[in-house]
Amino acid sequence: MKRIYRIIPMLTALLLAAALAACGDSQTQSSSGQTSAFREEAEPESVASSLPQAAQPDEQEKTPRVLVAYFSATGNTRNVAQQLEAVLGAELYEILPQEPYTEADLDYNSEDCRANQEQNDPDARPAISGTPEDPGQYDLAFLGYPIWWGQAPKILYTFLESCDFGDAAIVPFCTSGSSSIGSSAEALQELAPDADWLPGQRFGGDASREEVAAWVESLGLDKLNPAG
Ligand SMILES: Cc1cc2nc3c(=O)[nH]c(=O)nc-3n(C[C@H](O)[C@H](O)[C@H](O)COP(=O)(O)O)c2cc1C
Repeated sequence: MKRIYRIIPMLTALLLAAALAACGDSQTQSSSGQTSAFREEAEPESVASSLPQAAQPDEQEKTPRVLVAYFSATGNTRNVAQQLEAVLGAELYEILPQEPYTEADLDYNSEDCRANQEQNDPDARPAISGTPEDPGQYDLAFLGYPIWWGQAPKILYTFLESCDFGDAAIVPFCTSGSSSIGSSAEALQELAPDADWLPGQRFGGDASREEVAAWVESLGLDKLNPAG
């Protein structure tokens, strides 16, 4: 049985708690009259910390291990990843290039900039500085990246080729100027064919916690049915 099906009851509880967290956050906001979506005060309770109250899972069952892995060259995807970390109570992992990207490397108007060269080279696999310890331990991995010319940066290819997530569920998300997630996630799927890839989501760089929490809730993991 695929692992996603074994953890459905706990993911359901996790999503319920995510909904409660989002709800609590928006209530706090409206009562304070502040518009900022990301304030230090009145942080919504993380899903992991509220899981026992929300679900009372069988003591034999393990709480699902959730990872949020992301690459971010200029901080936008990091923002979304950090919102996810807070909403889910997940572990956060930043995919770091061995050679950091400079501003010139990212100047996509310059045909020969490093980012463009990598995206144009099917074999480019920029070196990464490490991988999460024992990727196979995770039941659910969110995978975040910026859109570069309609696709994931090649460093994501390096990452997936270096990490074996086994049959975990993987949920891609991206940030972009305007492009949708498009075919970027499908290209990544080929690098981890044993995983259960769920539909991905594009965010703007300034995505709010409510937006991210609403997306998590909408994933409908609780509706997955191994028999149906
Ligand atoms: C080389 C390069 C190519 C890009 N290509 C696209 C694109 O095709 N469509 C788009 O909407 N934005 C594109 N962008 C903008 C980024 O996707 C956007 O700024 C993203 O939020 C950056 O995320 P980060 O701050 O996490 O690196 C591109 C940026 C770079 C550096």
